[in-house]
Amino acid sequence: MSYKVIARKYRPQTFAEIVGQQHVTRTLANAIESNRVAHAYIFSGVRGVGKTTAARILAKALNCAKGPTTNPDNTCDSCREISAGTSLDVLEIDAASNRGIDQIRELREMVRYAPAASRYKVVILDEAHQLTDEASNALLKTLEEPPERVVFILATTRAEDLVETIKSRAQLFQFRSLTFQEISGQIERIAKSENLKIDPGAVAVLARAAEGSLRDGLSLLEQAMAYAGDTVADAQVRELLGVVAESVLDDLVEAIAAQSAERAFALVHRLIADGQNLQHFCREAIRHFRNLLVARVCGADSELVAAPADERPRLTDHAARFAEEDLTRFFNILLETDDDLRRKPDPRLHLELGLLRLINAQRLAPLEEVLGELRGEPRTAKAAHPASSAPARTAPPAQAVSASSAGAATAVRMAPAPETKASAAPATAPPRPASAAPIPASPPRVVARSVEDAAGGLAAAQLDSIKAALQSSRLLSSFLEHATRCEIEASEFRLFFSTENRALAEMLPREAMERLRTAVQEVVGQPLRVCVKLESGRAGVVRGSELRARFEEDPIVRAMLEKFGGQISKVKRPGEE
Ligand SMILES: Nc1ncnc2c1ncn2[C@@H]1O[C@H](COP(=O)(O)OP(=O)(O)OP(=O)(O)O)[C@@H](O)[C@H]1O
Ligand SMILES: [Mg+2]
Ligand SMILES: [Zn+2]
Repeated sequence: MSYKVIARKYRPQTFAEIVGQQHVTRTLANAIESNRVAHAYIFSGVRGVGKTTAARILAKALNCAKGPTTNPDNTCDSCREISAGTSLDVLEIDAASNRGIDQIRELREMVRYAPAASRYKVVILDEAHQLTDEASNALLKTLEEPPERVVFILATTRAEDLVETIKSRAQLFQFRSLTFQEISGQIERIAKSENLKIDPGAVAVLARAAEGSLRDGLSLLEQAMAYAGDTVADAQVRELLGVVAESVLDDLVEAIAAQSAERAFALVHRLIADGQNLQHFCREAIRHFRNLLVARVCGADSELVAAPADERPRLTDHAARFAEEDLTRFFNILLETDDDLRRKPDPRLHLELGLLRLINAQRLAPLEEVLGELRGEPRTAKAAHPASSAPARTAPPAQAVSASSAGAATAVRMAPAPETKASAAPATAPPRPASAAPIPASPPRVVARSVEDAAGGLAAAQLDSIKAALQSSRLLSSFLEHATRCEIEASEFRLFFSTENRALAEMLPREAMERLRTAVQEVVGQPLRVCVKLESGRAGVVRGSELRARFEEDPIVRAMLEKFGGQISKVKRPGEE
């Protein structure tokens, strides 16, 4: 029995058998059916995605005894000769080794004569971008005055390197890289017809290693069969290709989630002890984090995730442990690490550094979040960090939800008096900002007391409702907590601040102001202008120690301290040296 390598044995013989290039095959079939075949085509795309295959099928379709047909029979003389590469009218030329002008001159001579036995002469010029400039010019002359019944197919992995004048005379087809699903599907089909038992995990490893090229996928399958025989196991393929076990990636994810440098170093140590290639590991990590990022953004069942069905729950699980921003950051760090590993000596050092950066990257996350908030952006669910990354982030109290609903005013009006609230028993505590539960708001007593004093003041319950409606913004919540009192006068909702809080009163960004206005309107039931005012006369000079105490109570300052673990070294008044 003659042996044929798998990729050749399973070369598609009809347009319908070509996987994943329907945009090309459909257009070609239409052209054949409507008798509008062009003189020149460019088939562009990465290696092993079906360019030569499609070119041969087109040649057969044009010259089949039953044709021209979109469905060549593959049994007539013409079809068989083309398949065998012995047809006189179908010339396959490798431009990489025939790149000179002489070859193209020869070619022009050849195409000058009518086809010997068929309807068309088909010239398949492989690696067409490798032609020299003179050869390209000679080819161009031919394309400018195309001989009757000659079809040129320029197959290339680098269409951008073809000269513009040639490109403009040919119809361009962009063959796309094949997806993980397309490659693994084809591997499975072929394994079945070869009576091969292969683990789904092994198929996945092969399909991923193929990186979009079906020929590469099939060559790898061939290697795996030579290595493992009729039963191909996951571990064997990993061993063959030097691909790390998925459990190593689990360990990596654990180490990052736990922010444990020790575990990361242990992981590198183990990889080296096992004789793993660190660069391969890094590539695998990139692939894994890319999958996690896609799973996080599009969901784990997205077609864009390069993983078999049974791995997807695990991806969902991993992805849920990090915020989207974290995953993006990890992905970038890994790409940089990969670059370092490739270009610099001492891969161990660079991998360790890369993993350390991964572990520390998460600590940076809250900074962006906090800065965003300082700019008045509302916290988004996306930005919320998973519990593992920040210590002591607890869920918001359940009543936070009801307090911000339509019946808020009534619900809050029934709440105990402000003095009781200060004691903050869980059942009666005022709703805290939902996203920032562990960061205590500054004591509500300032507002509570002043609201009681305020002549013509707003009912405490209404102010509470406004606060409840704005609890998702740490900035606005803090802002309201610092107000000394508020009142409604002449269609204005006035918020008063003491003069030492001037900076706070002035810094509220427009969007935040707009949110405040909306909340006031909802609670009060009428549109009001929101004005921020400074108390006149009340502003006694604050002593240094008191200033420091207030600063320490400030929720934003506290959040900063808690997240970044800093210390307040000195508190200065604005303008003070
Ligand atoms: N789209 C596809 N559908 C089915 N099989 C394919 C496809 N692409 C590649 N193959 C398999 O890979 C083998 C090589 O494909 P082909 O020669 O068409 O690739 P190519 O795009 O011309 O690659 P290169 O740029 O390296 O010349 C085929 O024999 C076939 O087994
Ligand atoms: Mg080819
Ligand atoms: Zn035929």
